[in-house]
Amino acid sequence: MEEEDRRWEAMDMDCLFIIFSKLGPEAIDDLSVSIPFVCRSWSAAARNPLIWRILNLQSNDFMPWSSLAKRFKAHYQISRFSFSGFIKLAVRLSDGLASELWLPPLASVEDLILASEYCPRLRKLGLPKLTLNEESQIPSLFSKWKELQQLELESKPYNFSQLAAMIGQNCNDFIELKMPSSAISKEDVLAIIKFLPKLRSLDLSRSYLPKKELLLIVEGCRELERLSVKNCIGFEADEEVKTKACRIEKFEYEGSKMDYGGGFEVDECDDLYVDVI
Ligand SMILES: *[C@@H]1O[C@H](CO)[C@@H](O)[C@H](O)[C@H]1NC(C)=O
Repeated sequence: MEEEDRRWEAMDMDCLFIIFSKLGPEAIDDLSVSIPFVCRSWSAAARNPLIWRILNLQSNDFMPWSSLAKRFKAHYQISRFSFSGFIKLAVRLSDGLASELWLPPLASVEDLILASEYCPRLRKLGLPKLTLNEESQIPSLFSKWKELQQLELESKPYNFSQLAAMIGQNCNDFIELKMPSSAISKEDVLAIIKFLPKLRSLDLSRSYLPKKELLLIVEGCRELERLSVKNCIGFEADEEVKTKACRIEKFEYEGSKMDYGGGFEVDECDDLYVDVI
């Protein structure tokens, strides 16, 4: 009889776990401040580290006056809410299994240092814009993320070559970089080619990207399957560009033009034009 009971409980937990793990990133507030306080089995299910594998902290409001902050303070009986306190909880609950971390603009470099210590299995990382001083501390953190495959930046860090070198040295499976709204120099492109040779997807949309640098990427990054250079300034997708890029399965250049004043229009009937929403 006792065994029967236990099995029922186990089944309940499995059900709860499945339900909780299907909640989207917006539900991270419910998972942290509501669900654990409903009852014991809900609390136990919400503490399963597998639920905390994807730490998408970009879709919630973490301001001190947000409903999440108010509930967090009430439940954990603390007087002041901070994003750092929240991420400490989330990272602890993930118990070393977090595979994705998406940080909001109010995250600081200390939060990232914490993540480098407690999230060694990260595969995907999204970073907000950091200050110059904070940026200089980032490259060394990548030595902790050996499994990292994908990095999304708000824009190019001041010393991109240094960052690329660290990723190249430490992250053998790195295949995807998103670094929009940047001024791309020859040095940057050479760093990408040299340090990130396995790159399959590169997004430099809304960047300043001269044609010479674009062609260097196209010719130098041999593994690229997707190159997004939408809404860039610095090149026109002329015959030469399109011919050289035709090896790349998804070459997205819509909205790119030579300079700010130009009225260049993309030929939408072109075979090479790939529309990705
Ligand atoms: C970038 O970092 C590397 C390695 O630390 C350094 O040698 C180089 O001078 C730096 N470049 C700039 C522009 O600061």
